[in-house]
Amino acid sequence: MSDNNVQIFDTTLRDGEQVPGCKLNTEQKVIIAEQLDKLGVDVIEAGFPVSSPGDFRSVEEISKIVKNATVCGLTRSVENDIQVAAEALKYAKKPRIHTGIGTSDSHIKHKFKSNREAIIERAVKAVSYAKSFVEDVEFYAEDAGRTDNDYLARICEEAIKAGATVLNIPDTTGYCLPSEYGAKIKYLKENVKGIEKAILSCHCHNDLGLATANSIEGVINGARQIECTINGIGERAGNTALEEVVMILKQHPYLNLDTNINTQMLYGLSQLVSDRMGIYTQPNKAIVGANAFAHSSGIHQDGVIKNRETYEIIDPKDVGVTASAIVLTARSGRAALAYRAKNVGYELTKLQLDEVYKNFLDFADKKKEVDDNDIHQIIESCKLYKEIISA
Ligand code: KIV
Ligand code: ZN
Repeated sequence: MSDNNVQIFDTTLRDGEQVPGCKLNTEQKVIIAEQLDKLGVDVIEAGFPVSSPGDFRSVEEISKIVKNATVCGLTRSVENDIQVAAEALKYAKKPRIHTGIGTSDSHIKHKFKSNREAIIERAVKAVSYAKSFVEDVEFYAEDAGRTDNDYLARICEEAIKAGATVLNIPDTTGYCLPSEYGAKIKYLKENVKGIEKAILSCHCHNDLGLATANSIEGVINGARQIECTINGIGERAGNTALEEVVMILKQHPYLNLDTNINTQMLYGLSQLVSDRMGIYTQPNKAIVGANAFAHSSGIHQDGVIKNRETYEIIDPKDVGVTASAIVLTARSGRAALAYRAKNVGYELTKLQLDEVYKNFLDFADKKKEVDDNDIHQIIESCKLYKEIISA
């Protein structure tokens, strides 16, 4: 892996699947995992094997079919979890155990009724135990976003000594500002002894709508893995959206950070996940929403018809969308109407367009969106159009 390669760790099938009411069965998970592997993700977190027989089976089946990506299973810092995960991952070409524990004072006090030293001991034991099964062990410091940086650095250092290859720094509650999260990653890069032996990973939740911004700030400050889900799905407000971080890095080449993702598959994957999970994607969702490449106001439509780049920073084909859409509404201008009319077979003269446009506005005021059938109807009913055609 080169220094400027950012590993994409997809957790659609684990953290993403924690969306209430969206549980997938093993067959559905296998189909999605196959596509994620083709998409080029580096790691697929396939589930939490100890949590249920279904999750165990999914991790096992996904391990059998994935060809390129590392397959990862989540555990708590509990021996039985780790042993069960190792068993579920036994067919994986590249297995990874993802183990960890809450490190913020809130988690230590309320969840574990413990203290900082005892938590370090549990973390070290868990990493060492996981290491007895697999070479690749990722340690997560849950609620790292609200964990004191000195203590976080200490526990990360001990996890590396115990054999962790990746250190996951989750902003579990989606609390951090991008500047804080970036500073946290920088602090760990500069203060953890042995940090060169491990990769720092961003795992950001979206409670304040900052998951994508925080992950990008993390990699700018030295992290080299982003944990994310297709469409940003996940518990509460969700996780970092895979399609967003990948396209941000692609569209800002001066950051000098690449991924291995085949971006032309992004739209298809988004549709697949939305369909299988039964979660509708909001139309204005960045990159993959139905309106992400649709233009409806006259000024924008005129610009896009003249040159797409006037109002689009991404070529829709780069993310698997066939074309930009010129949507006809009452806010559309003559340029858009002429363009759409031409697409359905009418080459209108200036005079004809003036008349058709008047009728179009009357129609569009009554209907939210004017479709191809409506265009035929509007044009065929125009007096001037008929006169010229029959002349
Ligand atoms: O958000 C989080 O802290 C997690 C960990 C379990 C990795 O999902
Ligand atoms: Zn999470």
